[in-house]
Order: sequence, then C-alpha cells, then structure tokens
Amino acid sequence: MAPAPAGREHVAYQAFLGAARRFWSEAMLPVLSAEAATVRAGRPGLDETALAELLSARGTYGFFCWLERHLQRMKYSAPRGLVAAAQRDADAIRAYLDRPLRPGALRLAPDIVPPGWYAQWDIHQQPGGLVGSDLAGAIYRAAAGGSGGVVARNGLHERFAAWVARHMPGGWDRLVDLGCGFGKSTLPLAQARPAAEVVGVDLSAPCLRLAAQIAEDLGLASTRFVRADALRSGLPAACADVVTSTMLLHEMPPEAIAAMLREAHRLLRPGGLSIHLDFLPRDDAFLRLLHFGHGRRNNEPFMEPLARMDLAAAHEAAGLEAMRIEEFEDEDGALARPDGRKWRLPWAVIIARKPG
Ligand SMILES: C[S@@+](CC[C@H](N)C(=O)[O-])C[C@H]1O[C@@H](n2cnc3c(N)ncnc32)[C@H](O)[C@@H]1O
Repeated sequence: MAPAPAGREHVAYQAFLGAARRFWSEAMLPVLSAEAATVRAGRPGLDETALAELLSARGTYGFFCWLERHLQRMKYSAPRGLVAAAQRDADAIRAYLDRPLRPGALRLAPDIVPPGWYAQWDIHQQPGGLVGSDLAGAIYRAAAGGSGGVVARNGLHERFAAWVARHMPGGWDRLVDLGCGFGKSTLPLAQARPAAEVVGVDLSAPCLRLAAQIAEDLGLASTRFVRADALRSGLPAACADVVTSTMLLHEMPPEAIAAMLREAHRLLRPGGLSIHLDFLPRDDAFLRLLHFGHGRRNNEPFMEPLARMDLAAAHEAAGLEAMRIEEFEDEDGALARPDGRKWRLPWAVIIARKPG
C-alpha cells in the first residue's frame, strides 16, 4: 500500500482540524445563512458583491472567511501539518515512489513547461502546489482524505465511474482522464473496466509517480500515466471512446478550458463522450458568494471564471454537440445543492458528444 503521512500526533491534529471544520460548516454557516436572509430581505436584486459588503458590516462573515482560510492553511503548514508529516515519512514515501514499474506505465516528459498560471498559485494552499517537491503527490493524497484529511470525499470518484458507465451503456474500451492527479479519478474508472486502455494525463510529476505505483498495486496492467498539458496531450487523435476529468476545469482559466475541450474533441473517436465533473454554483447571490470566496480562500482563482463561462458556446466552438449539465449527487446521497445549512460543493457533470 502507498504510505500515507501518519503518526498519532498527526492524526490527532488532523482530527482537531476536522472537528473545527465541522463547526465552521454545521454551526457557523447556518448563522451566516440566517444573517444573509435578513440582509437580503426587501432587496431582491442584490448580487454577491453587494451582499458581501452588507455582510462584512457584521461579525460572522469575517470570522467565517478567516476560519475557512486558516483551517486549510493549518492542515498543510503547521508543525503537525501534512507537509511536516510527509517530510518525516519521506524515506518510506520515496522508497514507494522509486519501485520499478512495468515498461510504459509512466512517461514523465521532463521537457514540458507548464503554463504560467499553473505554478503561480499554491493550489489548495499546499506549499509549492503539486510540483513543489517530490513528496507533493503524497501530501495531496493525504489532504484529499487519504489519512484523516479535513475534507473527506468518500466514494466520489467511484460514483463518478458508475455515472460514466450508466451514460455509456455499450461500455468503453479506451479512456483518457485529463488532470488525473494521483489517480483518484483514473483508478476507479480503470477498475470498472480492468481490460480497457486507460491513460491518466497530468502536469504534476509527483502526482503521476504516485498514481502509477498505486495502479501497479491494484494490478491495472493496461492503465498508464503521462505527463502532459491537458490542452495538448500529445496522445494520438481519435484514441478514446471517452475523455473525462474531475475537478480540472475550475483549476484553469477559461481560455485553457476552451483549448482543453478542443483537445478532448481531437482525442475522441466519432460518437465518443466528453465528461467533466466540476463545480457550478446555482444562480443565487449567497451561494455564489460562498463558492467564489471558497475559491479565493483555497487559492483556486479560476473557480469564479468557470462559473461565469459560457460552457455551451465553448463546447460548440470545440466541435462537441448536445452539451448538457447535470447535478451530481453528494456523498450522503443528497443532490449537490448547497442550501446554506451545511457546507457543500456544487457538484455538476458537463457531458457532450463528438458528432459521428
Ligand atoms: C483538483 S486536482 C484533481 C485531480 C483528480 N482528477 C482528482 O479528482 O482527484 C486537479 C489536477 O489537474 C491538474 N492540472 C491542472 N491543470 C492542468 C493542465 N493544464 N494539464 C494537465 N493537468 C492539469 C493538476 O496538476 C491536478 O493534479
């Protein structure tokens, strides 16, 4: 098994942050929500900017924002944070990453230069982002719920793999997963069809090295990982029945999303599907304020531009047809409909087809 930064003190510290995060989500958010309802009463046209100004005059909003920002920072950066834990376990993590792999399982292409915006932000507040050190993949994995992380996304990717299967009743034999990270999205898709040819593409070498090792442990012999920009993967044209991504779109500026959709079109065979799981908030000033603020506080500056982007036009320009957006169920089975009673991300799937 892939080593995850652990240790009793680390686990206790992350559990403390998890409890604080629950307080933020389940106790503070309803109070803020009630304040927002009071402020909005009698002002039907109030947009998120005006709402932020009115809420700022009260105490809860500032504390809510501060707590969200700093709980996330503490998760990574404190003496018992995930970075320190990974550094302490560095030998074991490196030994795992260095194990020999079957030929072709991993192609790292060291000459690829990521776009400027990619390394400009310490994404999710992870110091150095996903490329800052060879331990970055293991740190990201721990943060994504691998070992007492603050945000648990139990079963999300498995449910996404099932969603893809439901929407491809004839099955699929070739899949490209763009922005695959350490394989959290790619591997459940590959496990759903172990004989299929699956390629995970990402810019982060530390994440890809981890993904390839986990795939090896799972015995996924026809899954491989390639370091490339999702906008120009270098994979052959028409090599995929389905192109997926999970949580990639909101990490890129709109012009990059448009280019990625053109690349998805190139990679797909005629009739193939482009399927992307991401976040799209409903048209409600308070929910948009929460979501856009979450993006800023989490160092994810393209969250808001994604929500404002004309995705239908971008798909059409890329040559993809019949684009539709569906809400995607949250982990407790509820529709991903943030309602201000508990913190939820506005999960949505964007699906379209290559004509043919
Ligand atoms: C939030 S993570 C999601 C990872 C994975 N899909 C998952 O669901 O766990 C976004 C990933 O997209 C990758 N990424 C961002 N921009 C990219 C690009 N232009 N080309 C390839 N990968 C990119 C990042 O390195 C990161 O691993």
